[in-house]
Amino acid sequence: MRFYVTTPIYYVNGEPHHGHAYTTIAADVLARYHRQKGDDVFFLTGTDEHGTKIAQAAEERGLTPQQHVDEMAPRYRELAAALGASNDFFIRTTDSEHEAFVQAFVEKLKAAGDIEKRTYGGLYCTACEGFWYERDLAPDGTCPDHGIKPVWLEEENYYFLLSKYQDRLAAFFRANPGWVKPKSRYNEALSFIEQGLDDISISRSSITWGVPVPWDEGQVIYVWVDALINYLSALTYARPGEDLTARYWPAFHFLAKDILKFHAVIWPALLMSAGYELPDGELIHGYLLVGGEKMSKTRGNVLDPFAVIAEVGAEPLRYYLMREVTLGQDGDVSVEGLYARYNNELANELGNLVSRTASMIGKYREGGIPQAGPEDEALSEVAAAGAAMTRAAGARYDAAEVTAALETIWEFVRRLNRLVEEEAPWKLAKDQAQAGRLDAVLRALAAGLRLTSLSLYPVIPSAAVEVLRRLGQAHADTDLRLEGAVWDGLEAAAVAIGPPLFPRLERGA
Ligand code: MSP
Repeated sequence: MRFYVTTPIYYVNGEPHHGHAYTTIAADVLARYHRQKGDDVFFLTGTDEHGTKIAQAAEERGLTPQQHVDEMAPRYRELAAALGASNDFFIRTTDSEHEAFVQAFVEKLKAAGDIEKRTYGGLYCTACEGFWYERDLAPDGTCPDHGIKPVWLEEENYYFLLSKYQDRLAAFFRANPGWVKPKSRYNEALSFIEQGLDDISISRSSITWGVPVPWDEGQVIYVWVDALINYLSALTYARPGEDLTARYWPAFHFLAKDILKFHAVIWPALLMSAGYELPDGELIHGYLLVGGEKMSKTRGNVLDPFAVIAEVGAEPLRYYLMREVTLGQDGDVSVEGLYARYNNELANELGNLVSRTASMIGKYREGGIPQAGPEDEALSEVAAAGAAMTRAAGARYDAAEVTAALETIWEFVRRLNRLVEEEAPWKLAKDQAQAGRLDAVLRALAAGLRLTSLSLYPVIPSAAVEVLRRLGQAHADTDLRLEGAVWDGLEAAAVAIGPPLFPRLERGA
């Protein structure tokens, strides 16, 4: 199986924030999970560097657009790396290969008879880089996403005949009810299509920071058309000398609801016109909020992921965001919330369990995980719970329900903690007659932690690998395939005792 997953390419008008981190983490979780399944995975992220918004940001800093983007793009690349994202490529829309591909793509639209020159006027929000219909604005006439007033923009531009695709788009949506998830976003996109689609301007004559229209050097291609095409162009030059399109296209897109229309309406129409297969699907998540308001550069209320990573590490941030805000819904995030989940769940429930398990095996069995024995049967209910957890977590990752996967895994972590309390290995250790039982309990804890680690790997990869190493599971860092995620896959190896996996944090909560 092939799995091509993308994040939106982020605007480089300001520093990256938690909102960008959130999508990148979610896409990375899915990429890692699919690799564990043995799928052929390609994971793409990158930066969107053209358009008015970027040109303005550069001007405010007294830089040329090129200088500005060359300074800012690395910040986004660094964020992906700092988050532990396993992206296979990082695209920049100022890459010359991308620019050439965009020009060839719009030539295809033109050859299909879908481009026309016209004069257009509309209300344009620079923060969105998009036109708004009056009916969709807030009551005070501002953009509902950015709280600023769109301005009237009128130009002679090239148009893409989006209206031609209305019926095909509606038919495609009806034939593929799961194509956009969740259902509420699918309905929103479909009703937008059914309300009637206007043709859209796909070039600008008023700005120069963009990819020139190949047949008219006086115009540049609209930044959104330029940007959407990245999902295809990247495959043609990510591996020099190799075209990966046939191997990976179509993609599965991750994005937030702010850019639904572009991805679920305009993008499929462009692909139809240019003769490409449509994406496999799109997952539309909600907003991270701060005190109930959308976190955004334009609103200036952002949390800085670099600061959080420096303080607590990337994996607690990955865990927190995936655990706290269900993909598809909005959710408030805060540093206090992160500390609370870290201390309660990562430090107490998981970290302590790992330490206790290793130290009990150290103390009572000289560091060797006991061999399977007849008493293991007595704990078959825990083994069954472990197997059920592995299956259920997998099904949830398959459905891109990462929060639900974590809930399932955590129920099992709590089950293992209860096992320690119920069986009280320190008491069993005092009674020679209970040696078989103690073996079974220690083995169950190790086997349970091994399955837990394999299921947690997509979200907290290094911590998961570290647990497997401490349990002496050979090849832990190279062989994480879910194929091997069975209870009896535990090797009777020597455990290693290490410092706390997640040392308690004193600040915050
Ligand atoms: N450049 C366009 C996307 C082009 S894709 C062909 C763009 N860039 S952006 O920098 O504004 O990023 C928007 C995306 O960042 C959202 O769709 C979402 O994935 C992520 N987020 C930005 N702020 C967010 C929140 N407050 N909450 C959740 N995700 C957010 O739009």
